[in-house]
Amino acid sequence: MDLLGFVCWTVAPLLLLLPCGSQCMTVHVINEQPVYIIPGSTLDLKVRIRMSPLEEISMVTWEREPETGFDPVRVTLATCSGGVLKCAGTRPNVRVNTEQQETTLQINGFSRADSGEYSVTVTDRTGANTSAHCIVREYEAVHHVSVSINVSHSLLVCSEAWGTDPIFSWLYEGGAITQTVGRVSADGTTLSVSLSPICGHFTCVVRNKLGDSSATYTAAPCKSEGRGMTVAVVCPVLLLLLLLCGGVLAFLLWRRRKHNNRGERLHEHVDDTI
Ligand SMILES: *[C@@H]1O[C@H](CO)[C@@H](O)[C@H](O)[C@H]1NC(C)=O
Repeated sequence: MDLLGFVCWTVAPLLLLLPCGSQCMTVHVINEQPVYIIPGSTLDLKVRIRMSPLEEISMVTWEREPETGFDPVRVTLATCSGGVLKCAGTRPNVRVNTEQQETTLQINGFSRADSGEYSVTVTDRTGANTSAHCIVREYEAVHHVSVSINVSHSLLVCSEAWGTDPIFSWLYEGGAITQTVGRVSADGTTLSVSLSPICGHFTCVVRNKLGDSSATYTAAPCKSEGRGMTVAVVCPVLLLLLLLCGGVLAFLLWRRRKHNNRGERLHEHVDDTI
């Protein structure tokens, strides 16, 4: 065994035996923050507790206070205490479960009033407290999508008011954005338009888990391209119609001539017999 290994194997157990009070205990929220919850669904907060083998939890307290406000009122949601850490919530939709290394808080039927800063405080046998905090917010639908134009840079900029985790995408005349139309920025909010002059309908669609909302920027109609398209479609159709009419006319004339000839011949025949 090398020297480093020797030191580790002898020092590590010694460190564990050192009385270190609250310094050894760490309390850590596992959820990625801030936590966004869709109204009506369940909030599930998980907190990991680490401590030395000599320490022991005597109490766990879950609290919440508003994220903003001059005089935030802190409310207690649940406490766990006693040798087996029996937990009791203060509301019917709150459930807390605590073990030596983990405590979880569950709120069923989450509503806007349940958002705020959650805190969990773990008290050890010596009365020392260690806390962790977690911001919880309501998951909000996409609101007020708008598109503005930056004329000097040929940019269309899409914005949205306060929806949670908005995802931006663009459509041109209801279809995908091609290279000839423009290029969308990495975050999706900006469309750098290549069409010159800018024409047609540009739509920004903003989406999140609760649905989507869109806004359309209407530029001048695409004139030259529009006429070109019309000519390209109308010309062959007209030509075909003309050909058809000519054909039908020629056929009718031909039939009429043939009929007339036969009539004359019939008359001759009748004359002969008489
Ligand atoms: C247009 O976009 C450019 C580049 O992003 C920016 O520097 C400029 O301030 C914008 N102009 C307006 C009027 O927003």
